[in-house]
Amino acid sequence: MNIIKSSLTAAMMLGAIAGAAGASTTEGIEIDHLGVNNTLVRIKGESKYLLLPVQESNDDAQVNVLVDGNLDRTINVRLAKSKVDYYVPFDLTPYRGRNIVMNIVTSQGRTSVREAKDDACWKNLTLSDTLDTTNREKYRPVYHHTPSYGWMNDPNGMFYKDGVWHLYYQYNPYGSKWQNMSWGHSTSKDLIHWTHEPIAIEPTGLGTVFSGSCALDTTDSAGFGSDAVIGMYTSAGVSQTQSLVWSKDNGRTFEFYPSNPVITLESEARDPNMFWDAKAGQWVLVLAHALDHEMLIFTSPDMKDWTLRSSFGKVGAQDGVWECPDLFKLKVDGTDKEKWVLICNLNPGGIFGGSATQYFVGDFDGNTFKADTDAAGNIPVKWMDFGKDHYATVSWSDAPDNRRTAIGWMSNWQYAGEVPTMQFRSANTLPRDLSLFTASDGELYLASTPSPEMKALRGTPTVSVRNTDIRKKAVSCPLPAANGGVCEILVDVNARKSSKINLTLANNAGEKVVMLYDVAAHTLSFDRRESGIVDFSQDFPAVTVAPTFEENGKISLRIFIDKSSIEVFGNDGRFAMTNLVFPENPYTSLSISSTVGNARIDNLKIYPIK
Ligand code: FRU
Repeated sequence: MNIIKSSLTAAMMLGAIAGAAGASTTEGIEIDHLGVNNTLVRIKGESKYLLLPVQESNDDAQVNVLVDGNLDRTINVRLAKSKVDYYVPFDLTPYRGRNIVMNIVTSQGRTSVREAKDDACWKNLTLSDTLDTTNREKYRPVYHHTPSYGWMNDPNGMFYKDGVWHLYYQYNPYGSKWQNMSWGHSTSKDLIHWTHEPIAIEPTGLGTVFSGSCALDTTDSAGFGSDAVIGMYTSAGVSQTQSLVWSKDNGRTFEFYPSNPVITLESEARDPNMFWDAKAGQWVLVLAHALDHEMLIFTSPDMKDWTLRSSFGKVGAQDGVWECPDLFKLKVDGTDKEKWVLICNLNPGGIFGGSATQYFVGDFDGNTFKADTDAAGNIPVKWMDFGKDHYATVSWSDAPDNRRTAIGWMSNWQYAGEVPTMQFRSANTLPRDLSLFTASDGELYLASTPSPEMKALRGTPTVSVRNTDIRKKAVSCPLPAANGGVCEILVDVNARKSSKINLTLANNAGEKVVMLYDVAAHTLSFDRRESGIVDFSQDFPAVTVAPTFEENGKISLRIFIDKSSIEVFGNDGRFAMTNLVFPENPYTSLSISSTVGNARIDNLKIYPIK
């Protein structure tokens, strides 16, 4: 089922194309080798795309695009040396009728021009009018957002307007490794079906386009119009500075504010996240002072002039860098009482190594955030998700019905570039609606539940079990076979006399994921050490552990399986756990057993995904 469709014309939605090279390889292309590491590629033919052959293990070549002799842009592409892994398209349509020359600087370790001429890239450069974005990846999720090709990391600038959820993301259109950061763009009316839109923001002379946020300027405070969507992101050049952009076409294209940057600091600062503080009548912006493990808080009347008001940090988990902040208020325990939540993504130094999302609960007076302390007077470390693959999570601005809906990047910087896909790399988590609850220790915690829209994914249950005892011998249920086994499992277990409940997903290749509910410890662990392909990184095989936040030995799980991801939401989102897996074949069974004493499945349903 292909529910991620594209609004682009066949010609615009070019994907990374396999096997595109042929006899006409150099037709319409003239190649001049100027030196061992320098080649000119002249485009003579009138085609829509130049397909660039990529070999991922190579270093980047610098491709300087000259238009009528002037440098228009520079992109970094891992041009092929000995073999072509895939092709990425360079769109020639904006340059119709102009003279296009690529001045390419390679670093292929060749010693003579004669040798350099043999590099696979030269004979495989191809002009083409058509593109094939058909999915070639067995691990591409079915109901999670992914780019149709290329690399993706953080979600960026999400806003909701006129019934449409906008999702931008850190994007490399010229390869499936991190590089050439731009803002890719997708839109959705239901948070499930995503439409790929053209790239929204591309690098400027100030640098590439790092993470940031968008907001609706309904009071026209910035003077770009009350219908304008305003964005703020980090221009990553030699320095990291903050750039303001605005859109008059609902976030499809953005104008660059000529007086950028609007915020500069001496040390690394990035990922501006802004919102309108209606009470104070001003804008608030939170900026990650990455190496200093703090978030800086600025205010502004117009998003152009910003005043630093305070900083919050040097507490909580502080290994690695602090990145991608978000600050918002939430209702407590479904009452009218409100508290503020400051999200501080952190990498490395996450709870299970590498990247993770921590948060603080507290108060915000318009200028300063103050975190709550625990009974011992300390500011506790709290994690939003207890898996290894949940990062850079931020929320939508202007979401309807006062919802606070967030989405994360479903990977980890420890191995994101090495996972076994090539046409694309990385998916987003399912969108999650956030709320606050009081746990038995008296502390406030963030609950993440799959956004209500996700219920529409459910087909007719293939398994439905009620009130069934479980003992040492496992109760085993088949998982749906359709769509590569994608499904949602809903299971309520009452541990009764049992001390440990084992839930195992397995396939016929002997691969498995073992989840263990430890009743006395109030934890659920997730073991992916034998889940499938795990050897692409020493950091991938792992066991992650979540607190279950229950007191009565009852656990209620929603488990979403989508090709290469498993998201577990427990006890109404009181804990969430997101982990990638790469099984050779889809898991075909779920077995539930109790290691000691008998327990009971109150309810088990397995829904195929529609
Ligand atoms: C987080 C991050 C951000 C930065 C972006 C660059 O994953 O490092 O801090 O803006 O990725 O792609």
